[in-house]
Amino acid sequence: MLSTLPRLIGHRGAKESAPENTLASVREAARQGAPWVEVDTMLTRDGVPVVIHDDTLDRTTSGRGAVADTDLADLRRLDAGAWFDPRFAGETVPTLQEVLDLVRDLGPGLNLEIKPSAGRNAETARAALAVLAAAPLPAGRLLVSSFEPECLEVAGRLAPDVPRGYLMDETPADWAAIADRLGAATLNVDQRRQTADSVAAFRATGRPVLAYTVNDAARARTLFDWGVTGVFTDAPGRLAAELAIR
Ligand code: G3P
Ligand code: MG
Repeated sequence: MLSTLPRLIGHRGAKESAPENTLASVREAARQGAPWVEVDTMLTRDGVPVVIHDDTLDRTTSGRGAVADTDLADLRRLDAGAWFDPRFAGETVPTLQEVLDLVRDLGPGLNLEIKPSAGRNAETARAALAVLAAAPLPAGRLLVSSFEPECLEVAGRLAPDVPRGYLMDETPADWAAIADRLGAATLNVDQRRQTADSVAAFRATGRPVLAYTVNDAARARTLFDWGVTGVFTDAPGRLAAELAIR
């Protein structure tokens, strides 16, 4: 289980300083001292878990169209860095396997967000869990999360010992029942929707609260004061310095 959770989790690596969800971004987060990183994974057309946020390639690569309509071989020809800054030209959309290998080498904990394209919830969770199972990270250094309860159900069946974070945007009225049913270890919530009372209600279930996405130190301080355990941030190094924490 998760005995310790970090104060700061590098969001999509270090999204403020490097092209999100690339190996360069994970390296940059680690260089900045991020104790954990978060990345998003979905499937290519041929069923390989890759690390990318959007359903489509358009915003973060040189390609066009849906990730779910693109085979891995074609996706690998795309540039995933130049859109952010020319010095990152040559970055590719990494496979989950590559990110996992890098995370293991560099040492941060990993929050893997399973972000399936429409209709591929179970398949995406199965494929991602298979990659994780083949080369496990050290105990306490992995959290699997998803906005899709079905992904967490599948993960719970396949790997009951891997902690699961229940991701919410709007808070459903029956969030506590859903969290119980999923066996959620953490509640991963949109920081913009939180108040002292909402955080207290989450904490009353005994679960740590992780809040996304916080790039302002004053806001992070407020959330921590309310009882939030950790925040996802695009700027782990800057926030650590401003907050004088790791
Ligand atoms: O897992 C926290 C955060 O990454 C959720 O939102 O859209 O950035 O994946 P998003
Ligand atoms: Mg995410």
